[in-house]
Amino acid sequence: MDTYLETERLVLRRFTADDADLLIELDSDPAVMRYLTGGQPTAPQVVREEYLPRILAGYERWDGALGLFAAHEKDGGAFIGWFHSRPQPKGPVDEAELGYRLRQAAWGKGYATEGSRALLAKAFTELGVRMVWAETMSVNHGSRNIMEKLGMTLTDTIPTPSDMKMIEGSEHGGVRYEITKEQWKQQ
Ligand SMILES: CC(C)(COP(=O)(O)OP(=O)(O)OC[C@H]1O[C@@H](n2cnc3c(N)ncnc32)[C@H](O)[C@@H]1OP(=O)(O)O)[C@@H](O)C(=O)NCCC(=O)NCCS
Repeated sequence: MDTYLETERLVLRRFTADDADLLIELDSDPAVMRYLTGGQPTAPQVVREEYLPRILAGYERWDGALGLFAAHEKDGGAFIGWFHSRPQPKGPVDEAELGYRLRQAAWGKGYATEGSRALLAKAFTELGVRMVWAETMSVNHGSRNIMEKLGMTLTDTIPTPSDMKMIEGSEHGGVRYEITKEQWKQQ
């Protein structure tokens, strides 16, 4: 396993070209996709031909230091979903976007918070990241809760992109949270 980091209960590793089925299964749960597509699954072909190649290309681009990583329970090894900590494709490399998508079976156990905390620590202490940001829909309370527990600050509201207008709650727009290295150190 190409381990990226470990927490008390989780191992994050780099994806490989053989992992399409894990991503397809994750994106096939309407509850997981509720605030991302309105519940629509991601087509398997899109995962195989677009998502996974993009994830693998990200490791090349950022030398495996930033990107999107598979998360597994240490106890038993089950795949629980993914986390990302990565710059925008054309953005500054010292600003990373945090994200997470977990299988429903793994919700409510504090995993998203635990994995995200470890990603922030690694980004700020090892990878030269200056600021971490995250965005979600205003009504995605589970996701916002994590951002707030991480000590991130609500910095902006954002309009709903046109391709997300059909999602329940989209009329409330989105939110952006940020945390700088200085703010993180003071926690
Ligand atoms: C959002 C998501 C990552 C949360 O994962 P999780 O592992 O259950 O999160 P945690 O257990 O770390 O919980 C974080 C906090 O949010 C709370 N929370 C979780 N779901 C919630 C909800 N629907 N409404 C309000 N609070 C919620 C938890 O109670 C917890 O707070 P607490 O520790 O103070 O009790 C998970 O539900 C998920 O993957 N959803 C689908 C994909 C998605 O929406 N990703 C975010 C896109 S921006």
